[in-house]
Amino acid sequence: MTTIPKPTTPPEIGGIGHSVKRHEDDRLLAGQGNFLDDHVLPGMLHMAILRSPVPHARINSIDTSAATALDGVVAVVTGELLAQYNLAWMPTLSGDTQAVLATDKVRFQGQEVAAVIATDPYTAEDALELIDVDYELLPVITSPQQAMADGAVVIRDDKEGQTTNHVYDWESGDAAETDAAFAQADRVVTLETHYPRSHPAPLETCGCLADVNSTTGQATIYLTSQAPHAHRTVFAMVAGLPEQNIRIISPDLGGGFGNKVPVYPGYVVATAASLVLQRPVKWVESRTENLISTGFARDYYMKGELAVTDEGRILALRVNMLSDQGAFYSDAQPTQFRAGLFHVVTGSYDYPAAHVKCAGAYTNKAPGGVAYRCSFRITEASFMIERLVQTAAYELGIDPAEFRLKNFIQPEQFPYETPTGFLYDSGDYPTALRTALGEVGYEELRAEQARLRDEGKLMGIGIAHFTEAVGAGPSKKYDILGLKMIDSAELRIHPTGKAILKIGVKTQGQGHETTFAQIVADELGIPVTDIKVMHGDTDNTPYGLGTYASRSTPVAGAATAVVSRELAEKAKKIAAHLLEASDQDIELANGQFSVKGTPGKSVTIQDVALAAYTNLPDGMDYGLEGVHYYDPPNLTYPYGSYVVVVDVDPETGVWKVRRMVALDDCGVRINPMIVEGQIHGGLTEGFAKSSMQWITFDEEGNCIGSNLMDYLIPTAWETPRFELLATCTPSPHHPIGAKGVGESATVGSPAAYVNAVIDALAHLGVRNIDMPLLPDRVWSAIQSAQGSSA
Ligand code: CDP
Repeated sequence: MTTIPKPTTPPEIGGIGHSVKRHEDDRLLAGQGNFLDDHVLPGMLHMAILRSPVPHARINSIDTSAATALDGVVAVVTGELLAQYNLAWMPTLSGDTQAVLATDKVRFQGQEVAAVIATDPYTAEDALELIDVDYELLPVITSPQQAMADGAVVIRDDKEGQTTNHVYDWESGDAAETDAAFAQADRVVTLETHYPRSHPAPLETCGCLADVNSTTGQATIYLTSQAPHAHRTVFAMVAGLPEQNIRIISPDLGGGFGNKVPVYPGYVVATAASLVLQRPVKWVESRTENLISTGFARDYYMKGELAVTDEGRILALRVNMLSDQGAFYSDAQPTQFRAGLFHVVTGSYDYPAAHVKCAGAYTNKAPGGVAYRCSFRITEASFMIERLVQTAAYELGIDPAEFRLKNFIQPEQFPYETPTGFLYDSGDYPTALRTALGEVGYEELRAEQARLRDEGKLMGIGIAHFTEAVGAGPSKKYDILGLKMIDSAELRIHPTGKAILKIGVKTQGQGHETTFAQIVADELGIPVTDIKVMHGDTDNTPYGLGTYASRSTPVAGAATAVVSRELAEKAKKIAAHLLEASDQDIELANGQFSVKGTPGKSVTIQDVALAAYTNLPDGMDYGLEGVHYYDPPNLTYPYGSYVVVVDVDPETGVWKVRRMVALDDCGVRINPMIVEGQIHGGLTEGFAKSSMQWITFDEEGNCIGSNLMDYLIPTAWETPRFELLATCTPSPHHPIGAKGVGESATVGSPAAYVNAVIDALAHLGVRNIDMPLLPDRVWSAIQSAQGSSA
């Protein structure tokens, strides 16, 4: 089924399928949000961090005497001092180690070297300039290719036994089967591409306010955290604090996008400083600090080969990938998946063999590889396969849409096991692509393109059909540092029938306070406005691994549905007691419990809630509350078909988006308006990636892109208009048939924009331009194609 189901609850209940206005916006849009920097505690001190100006150097000495003497400075912290508490290094979420404050060397520009704690933030900043560090410069490595070359200087010489810059190797699929399939191929189509380094750049930067009281042993840490529970456990492990005494409060977040998943040195230093000084210590990073030192993404160099027949059938895929991890492998990947879920690179196509090899390298760049608005490393994978199938279509002389339709996994093949071991749950890819093509008027556009080419004009139609793997994850495969990727929901219904839902995930703009209430409303018939959703306070919410990689709906959303159903079962028994009927005969619809076959005999969920505290059947425990920890049986696999039409100016290389049609299928949509908002964000992000946004480093390792004048965030002015479509293939194993969607458009759209520009130039023989497709790159590609054909 691909048609969109209608809501089964009336608007006043506001269950699944209603575009309920976001509850949180009353607060957030009225300037009443409570962000980290809004928190002020009595006696609070301020911390600033001294960062390395050079990317690779030995530290000969650090002189802090002048800074310490400055009026208002309370303490200056160095790595040497932290080492006395065994805190100079910390474990990362990927099982590596990372310097908290540098002791031996600095390994990237912007690395944390020392911290000043002062009575106000300005004094703390001023004192940084008084710290004198003697650096002895070392050779700099700015690419993974350099890093892996023989004789390259070893960046991580702190690690015992580490004699190269190699971080990991990982592979998936079957090499022998893939080789055999390639031997049968009529041709092999090859594409080498780089997905550039980028930054999540949330509006609010990262920060921490630590309040540690050694008398009570209590550590209350306000943290810009997408995963407060996991961070609490990591804090317990790093700082040796008893976990019951650590309370992480992640307040309103001004976006996260993966940037607020890693544990940053600033968090650890502020907490240690609060412990030692016995006063609250606040640290909020500046925009430049955020851009040069925290959670980068992508930076994958990929080579893909597709074995195809002359008739246009794909036989096998081979991919080799090299990842630039920066100086510390500190992004969060599930333990068993060193390159995240990159092996979803087989895409939406049906072929028997694939082999994917991934390697990671240390470089003198900030640590990278966070799941930035995508499930772990899936954006890179999607980009690779969608660029590759388009290239194959050109090489074979087949229309790119037809080539995809010929090779798609067919609806009747689901559940479908890919050659790299994913079990796709459901989908109807041909319907999705045909619908998007129909909307854009594909046939007419191709005819127009042919006419325009005759006139020397360049117009291109780009397609991307992506499948994402989200909702990590089943505990048997997915964990971070051994913590299983389950999630939770606790539901408590008060005597007046109003409810509080506490969830293990953490909203950072996605609207969880609304959509999770809608799931409860749908199951129990309590009006959505009567349900408060709480998150982000580890003392007051059940354990969970947090919000990233579109996992909230597939995991915590499922937990919410299940706990609601568990309460509905108890509520039915109470209703049976009130109605003097058998609980087997009780039906629940829209908050009314009625007796089968006896119309008019009913009680409401509000009546039942009151009875749960006042009038129970014999032997039943009081209250109407429960908690559920959900361990999903599989990931969920949302997908989409995107079509972009561009006009390219051959004189300047400037390209403009004429149409952007995006069809998304995330199964059952809880709140269609919120889903569309998520998709708009992702499509804008994909546009930014393809057209203007990247972070580069010069040969000396200086970060180019340390401010928003250089790292460009698209505004409404340059962002194209989006035309959204939807189909619905519910996930068969999810309690409400929902798949995640938070990141889909970021995953799916960059290839669509790039494919459109390449399509405009394809008849000239152009097959690839690396992102971002800046006008001068496009112009140069046109010039060299015309030069070589002349
Ligand atoms: O983990 P994250 O919240 O970033 O991603 P998600 O689970 O895909 O959800 C993003 C937002 O879209 C949340 O508010 C979801 O509840 C909502 N959503 C929805 O309304 N229907 C879906 N099928 C999937 C997500």
